[in-house]
Amino acid sequence: MNPQKSALHGQIWVTGAGGLLGSALLRIGAVGQDRVHLDVTDPAAVDEMLRIHRPRAVIHCAAFTRVDACGPEHWGVNVEAAERLAERVPTWLVSTNYVFDGPGPHGPSSPRCPRMRYGHQKAAAEDAVLAHGGHVVRTGWLFGPQGRNFPSRLPELLRAGPVQALERWPVQPTWADDLAGYLMTLPQGVSHAVGGEQTTWADFARACAAKMGLPPERVVGVSEVTSMGPRPQDARLEGHTLPGWTQRIEQLISASS
Ligand SMILES: NC(=O)c1ccc[n+]([C@@H]2O[C@H](COP(=O)([O-])OP(=O)(O)OC[C@H]3O[C@@H](n4cnc5c(N)ncnc54)[C@H](OP(=O)(O)O)[C@@H]3O)[C@@H](O)[C@H]2O)c1
Repeated sequence: MNPQKSALHGQIWVTGAGGLLGSALLRIGAVGQDRVHLDVTDPAAVDEMLRIHRPRAVIHCAAFTRVDACGPEHWGVNVEAAERLAERVPTWLVSTNYVFDGPGPHGPSSPRCPRMRYGHQKAAAEDAVLAHGGHVVRTGWLFGPQGRNFPSRLPELLRAGPVQALERWPVQPTWADDLAGYLMTLPQGVSHAVGGEQTTWADFARACAAKMGLPPERVVGVSEVTSMGPRPQDARLEGHTLPGWTQRIEQLISASS
């Protein structure tokens, strides 16, 4: 008998389990594999996983998430993989506030209007998953002890020297572990979940610097970052409210020290 089969049968399965959100889901009881062990663009590998482990639900975190580098070649991971899963198993797609533009906050049924390819691909994935009876949870501005994004890397960046941080757009930083807890409830339909306190990345960075005992001038507030492509004018979401970032910033700093 394959011991893995009996141990993992009927669990909540996470794709992209090596990422920021995927690893948070594993910490609270989901099972899953990272890209090395399960490439979601490989249909045979996905079918084999479903046949062996028979998950009762899949929380689909795997995606190409480097927003400005997203190209047509990422349609496979960002859209087709989501559709293939939703055809075969109850699927929860983790989607993004970048499907919106214009004045926010945006509710679950607000009209979408993505401004960049990544947002277009995530919107197409939403449509595909919903068409097969799956579910969509939109979020934004995740941070946590892992991750390649700005807030997750901030303590390390601040230790290294001055950091440019945007003070133009409102953000709702969302602790990945809090979102993971919400996802494990398997919310039905289309829902939104973000941290309950609004700020800007510049103020977030200043608070982080202060907690780390670093001078506030280490944070240089800017109105734009030249390397950054188009973003929604206002990507704030309304829906399920998770704990605010001020409750989590010390965890971020201590996890990175
Ligand atoms: N971070 C945010 O602020 C944010 C906001 C809104 C929505 N989301 C969504 O939330 C989900 C999780 O994001 P995250 O922040 O945890 O991003 P992440 O840390 O980049 O995690 C995504 C994971 O997917 C993996 N992956 C990429 N291609 C794959 C493939 N073909 N097969 C299997 N795995 C693959 C990546 O592996 P490699 O690292 O090896 O490429 C990575 O571990 C994504 O769907 C993202 O669109 C994130």
